[in-house]
Amino acid sequence: MNILRIQGGQSLVGELEVPGSKNAALAILSAVVLAEGTTVLHNMPDITDVQIKASLIERFGAQCTLREGSLYIDCSHLYNGECDQETARLIRTSFYLLGPLLARIGRVTLPAPGGCKIGARPVDLHLKGLASLGAKIDLVHGNYVATTDGLKGADIYLDMPSAGATQHLMSTAVLAKGMTTIDNAAFEPEVTALADFLNRMGARIEGAGTSKITIRGVESLEPCQFRIPHDRVQAGTYLLAGAITRGDVTVHGVFPEHQAGLISKLKEAGALVSEGPDWVRVAANNRLKAVRIKTMPYPGFPTDMQQPVAALLTVSDGTSVIEETIYESRTGHVPELNRMGAKIRLEGGGRTALITGVEKLKGAVVEASDLRAGAALVLAALAAEGESVIKNVHFIDRGYERIESSLMNLGARIERVASADMESSMLQTEPGG
Ligand code: UD1
Repeated sequence: MNILRIQGGQSLVGELEVPGSKNAALAILSAVVLAEGTTVLHNMPDITDVQIKASLIERFGAQCTLREGSLYIDCSHLYNGECDQETARLIRTSFYLLGPLLARIGRVTLPAPGGCKIGARPVDLHLKGLASLGAKIDLVHGNYVATTDGLKGADIYLDMPSAGATQHLMSTAVLAKGMTTIDNAAFEPEVTALADFLNRMGARIEGAGTSKITIRGVESLEPCQFRIPHDRVQAGTYLLAGAITRGDVTVHGVFPEHQAGLISKLKEAGALVSEGPDWVRVAANNRLKAVRIKTMPYPGFPTDMQQPVAALLTVSDGTSVIEETIYESRTGHVPELNRMGAKIRLEGGGRTALITGVEKLKGAVVEASDLRAGAALVLAALAAEGESVIKNVHFIDRGYERIESSLMNLGARIERVASADMESSMLQTEPGG
């Protein structure tokens, strides 16, 4: 188990190129199984969620080889393999394999998914949509068993614009007979990236990036080469690192229109933001101001940035309000930030955070409870007085590629320590043991 040790108080200054997108990579790694042969994905992020997903598709006969940041996935010989519940529960997107594997091999057994514990995260929209496409799905001892007599196009309406359901159903419908429409589809850039990938394989998808997606089924798909787009959540986190440390950070490989929610709130808070076609720069000379934020489906303010931005607001002037509308319990960062001297109060059953800004946070030993909570703690520690220790770094490693290297290059004083080493160094430095 690793921990991160951070000496706060350095202004972060510099530029970085953000790695490939976790959420795009994970959705595309479900769809690769649709084509017989070897697909090559470039700009793969080196994060644990991708490693887990690659190991999952290997259970169904795929062979994955990573060479210089590109993942080669040979899906020539697939079968209904066995996947244990522990591995499937590590990530939410294990479940997105159900439809594509069913389309390719006709019968699949897959355990129920997991992922960050931030709410109930049901899969009802996935199941309803798959049933409309002709899948027969039973839940047997915690495993979904799916069969089909042949997938057929259907008109699907999503009760809410779920990114995962849109991606899953789109990836299944490409090989269904006839036309499928998905109404009230999610707009996320990762949905568009997946559609671009599928079309590169020979699918016929129109309307991705709008609320209505149309898919004309094809007989088969061909493997292809595809470059994973950059990660907008990692990008946003590094921009916040510039703002919270009153530094000046430029992130390359990011499209400003994909960051509109975050950029507009940073400007409202008084940060200096400039942007080019594929970069964004954020600087702050003074203490920023409190703002009100409500998370919404894309293009609204992203729920994935809610916890990181909370860290910034703990040291902004005035009382900020964050309303989380997507997940019911995305609050694991709150007690830990309060341990660092933040003043955050939860209301509305945990859906609303009232954050009264303090002048300074203080370093502390804190624990990440999930991926973005971990990012929030790193940001807070960068700005805090003194040393912080962040435990449960494995959550952060799920979605941030070597976060300590990226931050160190911007001037942060941060190191990764194996926790056994950490315990012995703490024993040596604590007076009286
Ligand atoms: C994806 C992202 C996650 C992001 C989220 C919202 C991945 C791997 N994860 O998660 O980082 O926070 O989009 O932008 O891409 N819902 C249902 N029934 C369903 C499916 C979803 O009620 O069958 C609800 C969820 O509980 C949640 C909302 O829909 O309240 C949005 O979830 P969804 O967009 O599906 O999120 P994920 O795809 O799980």
